Amino acid sequence: MTARFEGKVALITGAASGIGRAAAIRFAQEGARVFCADLNLAGAQAVVAEIGGAAGSGAGAVQVDVADYASNQAMVAQVMEQAGRLDIAFLNAGLYGAAEGLDTVDEALFDKLIAVNLKGAFNGIKAVQPVIAQGGAVVVTASAAGVIGHPVNPAYSAAKHGVVGLVKSCVDAFAARGARINALCPGGVETPLIGAADVAMIDQQDLPRVPLRGIGRAQHVAEVALWLASPAAGFITGQAQVLDAALLSTFAPVTLPIGP
Ligand SMILES: NC(=O)c1ccc[n+]([C@@H]2O[C@H](COP(=O)([O-])OP(=O)(O)OC[C@H]3O[C@@H](n4cnc5c(N)ncnc54)[C@H](O)[C@@H]3O)[C@@H](O)[C@H]2O)c1
Repeated sequence: MTARFEGKVALITGAASGIGRAAAIRFAQEGARVFCADLNLAGAQAVVAEIGGAAGSGAGAVQVDVADYASNQAMVAQVMEQAGRLDIAFLNAGLYGAAEGLDTVDEALFDKLIAVNLKGAFNGIKAVQPVIAQGGAVVVTASAAGVIGHPVNPAYSAAKHGVVGLVKSCVDAFAARGARINALCPGGVETPLIGAADVAMIDQQDLPRVPLRGIGRAQHVAEVALWLASPAAGFITGQAQVLDAALLSTFAPVTLPIGP
């Protein structure tokens, strides 16, 4: 196993579950000191325990409500106090909510989805920007629903479109500190967010085995987050990286009826 992040400090929100948990495990395996932040403190602590024996020991758990700016500030202050630096922020916490089309999205659900998914990203970006290290990287989880509309959950899609705009708009603020910022736009991923059980990690050799336009695994997204945060992606900033096994790229092959 390589150690791409030896000596680096990584903060991950939404780290108690799904994509955030997979990323916490992988960043730690590659040498980072990982801070797992989540509204669910017990869940974040469990992930810290899970990675405790990995190369990046010194991991810590932080409780945060990303929708609250002061809570984000306190999270970053805790990392700076304990680790003295912040190289990578994977701002990944998110909420899908119970939506089944426009009729089912009332004002309260709209406000909640915007507060966690869009304002939460803004709060995290604002809180980490003043302290991110030279050469650092921020990766923010948007969604494929941040690139095309999602009739089942319009508020979620609006929030994730907002995340993409926010990330693009913050490139200069991070470049001024010698740092990069990018968005991730996954297609469907098997996690509790879409009602699946939390996920097992997969063997590296199994990573490519995804059916086209199928459901991905949390680790697929984590691997791309690691790459975007690494020096190998040093020429990439302000991008919305789609990872969806071609869900948005092509129609599924169809057998066209043969005309007369
Ligand atoms: N699973 C998918 O199909 C999918 C697809 C595209 C994008 N995403 C995005 O990926 C990210 C991670 O989702 P996941 O699929 O791993 O879901 P998940 O439900 O497994 O994990 C989300 C985590 O965010 C935490 N969280 C929720 N609200 C929070 C708040 N206010 N403050 C702090 N933490 C909070 C939850 O406690 C949970 O641990 C989200 O931003 C989600 O919108 C998921």
